Amino acid sequence: VKRVPLATLVAGVTAACLLGSLPFTSQAQTEVSPIYGVAIPEGYRHWEFIAPSEELGKLDQLRIIVGNDIALKAYRDGTRPFPDGSIIAKVAWQRVPSAVDDRALGAPTAFVPGTPNIIQIMVKDSKRYHNSGGWGYGRFLNGKPTDLAQHETCFACHNTLARANDFVFTRYAP
Ligand code: HEC
Repeated sequence: VKRVPLATLVAGVTAACLLGSLPFTSQAQTEVSPIYGVAIPEGYRHWEFIAPSEELGKLDQLRIIVGNDIALKAYRDGTRPFPDGSIIAKVAWQRVPSAVDDRALGAPTAFVPGTPNIIQIMVKDSKRYHNSGGWGYGRFLNGKPTDLAQHETCFACHNTLARANDFVFTRYAP
């Protein structure tokens, strides 16, 4: 019987432990929403825009709604319900005045995106999310999912007011 040198053994075990712990490390970094298990989709920043929106009052936000290719195709073709795999993201920024733009325009009327704070996601998977109209929801504040109570409100509101458009409020801006 050939003996395995101790150093090789230790190195092997250490490597196995490191490898074994890797999946846990990367899992901890991809945080998902409560109830739905939705994550911020990779590459959403490069998606095509569907429409902008503005919310005055206490939220005071500029927003843009973007979608992946599957969602955009459904928008263009007028396909409802949206097919599985559709993802729609709403990105909101604090609405802040722009001194430079105001100077250019000669009036204090210009606003631009400030801190990006809220990202909201809807993911279509008609089987997995059949209890919530086929959509899974995720709301993220500074990259972290917000609490359970907030996620209990998503479907209720989208169901009440946007049911006729497969629970989606935003219309395609031509
Ligand atoms: C009180 C009503 C209400 C609640 C609660 C609500 N939404 Fe919405 N949501 C809206 C409205 C209105 C829009 C239209 C676009 C906008 O506001 O900028 C919208 C738009 C969206 C969009 C873009 C697609 C669309 O339907 O237009 C996503 C994604 C979204 N919401 C996710 C969420 C998530 C995730 C939650 C829960 C954490 C949530 N929403 C809770 C009213 C609501």
